Amino acid sequence: MAVVTIVGAGVIGVSWARLFAAAGWEVRISDPRPDLKHVADQYLSGLPVTLGPDLALAADGVDFVQEAGPERIKIKEQMFATLAAHTGDDVVLASSSSSLLPSAIADGNPAADRIVIGHPFNPPELMPLVEVVPGPRTSARTVERAVEVYRALDKLPIRLKREIPGFVGNRLQKVFNDQCTYLVQQGVIDVADLDDLVRASLGLRYATIGPFQSGSLGGGPAGMRHLVTHVGSQMTFEIGEPDPARMNDVLEAVESAYGTGESAYERLVALRDVRTRAALGPLGWQQPSALQDPQE
Ligand SMILES: NC(=O)c1ccc[n+]([C@@H]2O[C@H](COP(=O)([O-])OP(=O)(O)OC[C@H]3O[C@@H](n4cnc5c(N)ncnc54)[C@H](O)[C@@H]3O)[C@@H](O)[C@H]2O)c1
Repeated sequence: MAVVTIVGAGVIGVSWARLFAAAGWEVRISDPRPDLKHVADQYLSGLPVTLGPDLALAADGVDFVQEAGPERIKIKEQMFATLAAHTGDDVVLASSSSSLLPSAIADGNPAADRIVIGHPFNPPELMPLVEVVPGPRTSARTVERAVEVYRALDKLPIRLKREIPGFVGNRLQKVFNDQCTYLVQQGVIDVADLDDLVRASLGLRYATIGPFQSGSLGGGPAGMRHLVTHVGSQMTFEIGEPDPARMNDVLEAVESAYGTGESAYERLVALRDVRTRAALGPLGWQQPSALQDPQE
């Protein structure tokens, strides 16, 4: 049985663990948090997963590493230094980082050729995409092996041609989220209405066709060229930027709309996952059949 080490038992690490385990991997999770038993009982019950605080021990002899620790470059540097020292020369060290450059994570690391970004969308066990981002020193073999592993997990690995902060997914998400915040701050729309607006329009559209394909259709038989010169030519307005000093107003509005805390989180996760699972098959995506809802 192939063995994977997951670094970090947070939101992303636990979901990776469930995915790898469902695909037949033996999973070791390393995390210094004191409530590992609670995590295991709540999310990983019955799966071939062991948890512990010692990263060097968890990395010893494994076939693949998926790091999902804190999004702080200093901590990532330390974790990857330990991983480089305690894994074999052919073991891929993939980071789930949302935006940190692979060249920064690999800076000064003797295993830089084995370090690559494997950035999932939350939750990795359900979302098909993994962005595979090589740094300048990442070897071609590392990229190929990472792509091969993600494909075997029934993911869609998309390899970027070069590194860029935020990669592609989170650059797009940043632009989009900034504008959402701006519109709420400007009193144009409430938080929940904005969410419904997106779900009922752009969200549904982009689940079926991408922005360029959509642009092509929006222009009718003449294609995107017609859309750009016709409708697009009038969209010359300034879009503005959110005010960071007033971010707290938006956070309070989001908390008031959706709540915080364990029970609100569990309720919203269940809703999201039920909807996502229902959509995956009809949209042509797969998920490992053994992967069960942790609530079941
Ligand atoms: N949350 C998201 O939506 C999302 C999506 C894609 C990628 N990511 C990326 O995944 C990574 C993890 O994010 P998250 O949201 O799961 O964070 P999280 O805060 O939920 O989990 C991080 C975990 O790392 C643990 N940790 C702290 N120090 C550690 C160490 N030295 N060794 C091992 N574990 C340690 C913490 O105890 C915690 O359990 C980040 O790099 C993030 O950018 C997050």
